[in-house]
Amino acid sequence: MSSGVTHVSPAREELCSIPSPQLTQPVSEAASSTAHASEIVEPVAEEVAPPVAETNGSVVSAVPQGKNLTKAEREGALAEVAKCVADCTRCSELAQKRTQTVFGVGNPQARVMFIGEAPGADEDEQGEPFVGKAGQLLNKIIEACGWKREDIYICNILRCRPPGNRTPEKSEADNCREFLDAQIRIVNPEYIVCWGSCAAKNLLDSVLPIGKMRRRWFKYESARVLCTYHPSYLLRNPAAKKPVWDDMKLLLSDMGEPLP
Ligand code: URA
Repeated sequence: MSSGVTHVSPAREELCSIPSPQLTQPVSEAASSTAHASEIVEPVAEEVAPPVAETNGSVVSAVPQGKNLTKAEREGALAEVAKCVADCTRCSELAQKRTQTVFGVGNPQARVMFIGEAPGADEDEQGEPFVGKAGQLLNKIIEACGWKREDIYICNILRCRPPGNRTPEKSEADNCREFLDAQIRIVNPEYIVCWGSCAAKNLLDSVLPIGKMRRRWFKYESARVLCTYHPSYLLRNPAAKKPVWDDMKLLLSDMGEPLP
């Protein structure tokens, strides 16, 4: 194990030992200075999320910031967080009914992180996000962008399947938030794509419908954030593929990547 990974273990201890009620407690100045969300184009007051630190900064600050870590060190840090997730029982219904937790997958040095809603039946069975029908469509979108799935880091708002694929409860998203924030902190992506309303609203603490969050840039930590329709919605409404493709072109253009 490299030297950068060794300093992750105390973080894991802290991460795993902090019970979820503490998520609402105020945290250190250092944490509050690093974790926040905001809109960076056409600022609208009610869309600006409060500092992440208000809910979970003490835990987020316990994991290493990925910026100066090697790929192996980031993998090690993510693996430590994943172990905490695997043991998590904060959402008792989800913990009782899950087959396994679904942490995240992909390049720990990805420029782009994709955030979905929650695992479905296929993901619960296989332990990987976006492997069912919505995932197959997501893979096509990734390929259309000129990328491979392994180029992206993919995760969800929740790490457990909600029974019957119901929409995640706010309390469940709050319970899982420190894990998401830890992943964001370690991967340190330049861009985040929120797939669907659940991801967009929860990450950015917004009440806007997803249609109103599209085609504008938000900021979360150091990432530029774009929101678009969920692949499951596209399966039910194929006409929405065109606006999603427009959103992907906006992303590629902002990244300075060639348009396919
Ligand atoms: N839908 C999601 O939002 N995430 C998954 O992992 C699968 C389906």
